[in-house]
Amino acid sequence: MAKGEIVGGLLAPHPPHIVYGENHWRNEPKSECGWEVLRWGYERARKHFLAKKPDVILVHSPHWQTVIGHHFLGIEEFHGLSVDPIFPNLFRFNYDIKVDVELAEMIADEGRQAGLITKMMRNPHFRVDYGTIVSCHMMNPEWDIPIVGISSNNSPYYFSNEMGQNEMIKLGQATKRAIEKSGRRAILLASNTLSHRHFTTEPEIPEDMSREHVYEHSGYLWDMKVIDLMRRGKTRELIAILPEFMDHAVSEVKAGSFAWMLSALDFPDYPGELYGYWTVIGTGNAVVGWDPVLRERATTQGAVGRN
Ligand SMILES: [Fe+2]
Repeated sequence: MAKGEIVGGLLAPHPPHIVYGENHWRNEPKSECGWEVLRWGYERARKHFLAKKPDVILVHSPHWQTVIGHHFLGIEEFHGLSVDPIFPNLFRFNYDIKVDVELAEMIADEGRQAGLITKMMRNPHFRVDYGTIVSCHMMNPEWDIPIVGISSNNSPYYFSNEMGQNEMIKLGQATKRAIEKSGRRAILLASNTLSHRHFTTEPEIPEDMSREHVYEHSGYLWDMKVIDLMRRGKTRELIAILPEFMDHAVSEVKAGSFAWMLSALDFPDYPGELYGYWTVIGTGNAVVGWDPVLRERATTQGAVGRN
């Protein structure tokens, strides 16, 4: 069997609003439009990365929180209706998910050998969270590629940002080793928003874009700072400041998805491609992709040098 490889990694945020804006038949509520900059960004990312014909899409989601250890979807198929607890008016999504259980088990084993607590989710009635669903749907609306769904362990909330992030770095390395052994061509999705302070009231028409803007300037400045590091391939510097970003901008990267992905990619020193940045109820969201094949080539949007 050929050695498996990670053919791409994406920062793939999951506000339910973007699925609502898509008006896909799987989602019950219907919209007029909305959040196009992010939706078009996903469209471009999807075109680029699906052309690589991945065997599997892995997703790490902040909205499947587990207190003890790292859990993995562990049966072949999950069906059901996923309703966003905060925005049931925007997201009631009929899902039908195929899972690559073999690879999920291999990652769980690798994680265990690295000292992590891991567990397979074998309950057929388990309701898959909207973070997993939105990121996967925006990357592959056909749902014709199996996924590996990974929970976010709550250690950063009980212990410290640094401790939680270190766990995710171990999990990322275990993920990479398992993918290589599996022979799969894999795409990784870090289902994280950046700055995360937000408005608490909704316009009468949720997709009224005249009401959408950044919640606060300081959060926006943080987003620009971390995006700049992504675009310059400085992910080791980036990972060093993420704990501070979590505290100052209440960033959702605290859930560890982004650290997991950067670690699995061996902390890229090549530019990430920015496909789109925009706010959703004031939070900062960026779709950014790392393609190991592009490496030295300039990105289409021109990363600002590599010094
Ligand atoms: Fe979220």
